Amino acid sequence: MTNDSAAKSFYTVLLLALVCSALVSGAAVGLRPRQDANEQLDQKKNILRAAGLYNGQGDINLLFSAIETKIIRLSDGTFVSKEEVDPNNFNQLKAAFNPQTGKQLPKQEDPARLNRLEKYSLIYLVHQNNTINTVILPIRGKGLWSTMYGYVALAGDLSTITGVTFYKHGETPGLGGEIENQDWQAGWQGKKIHDNQGKIVLRVVKGKVKATDQDRAHRLDGISGATLTMNGINNLLMFWFGEHGFKPFLERYKTKEGIGG
Ligand SMILES: Cc1cc2nc3c(=O)[nH]c(=O)nc-3n(C[C@H](O)[C@H](O)[C@H](O)COP(=O)(O)O)c2cc1C
Repeated sequence: MTNDSAAKSFYTVLLLALVCSALVSGAAVGLRPRQDANEQLDQKKNILRAAGLYNGQGDINLLFSAIETKIIRLSDGTFVSKEEVDPNNFNQLKAAFNPQTGKQLPKQEDPARLNRLEKYSLIYLVHQNNTINTVILPIRGKGLWSTMYGYVALAGDLSTITGVTFYKHGETPGLGGEIENQDWQAGWQGKKIHDNQGKIVLRVVKGKVKATDQDRAHRLDGISGATLTMNGINNLLMFWFGEHGFKPFLERYKTKEGIGG
């Protein structure tokens, strides 16, 4: 074939395209384990941050070794054995916690707009002097633009919040995206989810919580210009502390026996 033949140009372009696509897909497959490892490390960092055990310094894996990972069945709050789902098998976990394999939520019982709910949840326990000091729960729900993912840490009474992180979302930077702001997250510390009757009463207000507000233990500061994102936060609190969420688990272990498994 001569250099200016159409066939030669065609085969050259075809060969180039094939080589490039092989390189790109090879890189995607080859880097997958590293992406999984980074994702896992990021999860650990956020769990530690919610638990108040990470301030940007230290070896994340080492710090995380102080945390016990458990799996619960959301429907009744019972612990699941390692034989059923192994918490150390990342790929098995990803499959077990895929909401697409779970139940369809009725619209009126789905304020966080999850649509489908997985059967199991991971939870994380921090022990101190033979008792459970902190329980960290994964939470998520729709904001204005996106699903917001976070962790909430509860004290041993299973009602007082000791920390929160929101680490993945697609809300607007500077508006709803301020849920990432650590100053705002710090305002969750010490807030109580339930009233004396066990009703879920914690919610975000518009503006700042007033020092004179009788309910201030159950109120969180709003983020200005982000009322719709804040509605999403209120909705996810209602969902995850409700019947389909962690309520069965929290009720079960609010007893004197505490959390074991
Ligand atoms: C480009 C653009 C992005 C916005 N992003 C958000 C957002 O991430 N979260 C949110 O609640 N409101 C967002 N809003 C504003 C909402 O439309 C609405 O005005 C706001 O939630 C009202 O909050 P406020 O009552 O505190 O002012 C956005 C508006 C525009 C124009």
